[in-house]
Amino acid sequence: MEKIKIQNIPFGPFPTVIVGAEVKGTPNYATVGAYGVVSMKPILYVSLKSTHHTTVGVKKNGYFSVNIPSSDLVKKTDYCGIVSGKTVNKSEVFTSFYDELGNAPMAKECSMNYLCKVVKTIPMFDFEMFLGEIVAVYVNEDCLTEQKPDPLKINPMIMMNSRYCDLGREVGTVFKSGLELKK
Ligand SMILES: Cc1cc2nc3c(=O)[nH]c(=O)nc-3n(C[C@H](O)[C@H](O)[C@H](O)COP(=O)(O)O)c2cc1C
Repeated sequence: MEKIKIQNIPFGPFPTVIVGAEVKGTPNYATVGAYGVVSMKPILYVSLKSTHHTTVGVKKNGYFSVNIPSSDLVKKTDYCGIVSGKTVNKSEVFTSFYDELGNAPMAKECSMNYLCKVVKTIPMFDFEMFLGEIVAVYVNEDCLTEQKPDPLKINPMIMMNSRYCDLGREVGTVFKSGLELKK
């Protein structure tokens, strides 16, 4: 197969998550693709535009949540990425719940929720990259298999080139699928 060189922009794939923050006493949610794990220590990062409403709350409280929407929440997920809490109250989009360990709202309707405490902030052009230590994790009971989150039950979305896709099916096992290629 021939390789075609295309434009130098990040097409993805990106995980699709919803970042929650308490802003001026009101829960706010923003859709984020710039999310990931930083190390095997329980640290996640989200990168938020400095001007976002959510960013104000993360900076003020030092806590944010990362909510993993299942694919059936695609409309609400996209909506939280279209409108800003600066002009539209997004607190009713999800049912918020809290953990005593930190002031950030978590979205009950999302299958999985991380509560994170900001441990480092890295400015990056017009964005701020928040590194957050995971202080609590919640998962819907029906999304667990043997007490661990089950990807096919959670069915998260990835996005690439403006398209949301769900997982569809399992294609391999981590640290096992590649073993047969090992010499
Ligand atoms: C699929 C998708 C992914 C997005 N990813 C990011 C992101 O990684 N970082 C970011 O700052 N904004 C991202 N946005 C844009 C924000 O979600 C959007 O501007 C939102 O309205 C901000 O809301 P707020 O002002 O209430 O915080 C994304 C939007 C969509 C639809």
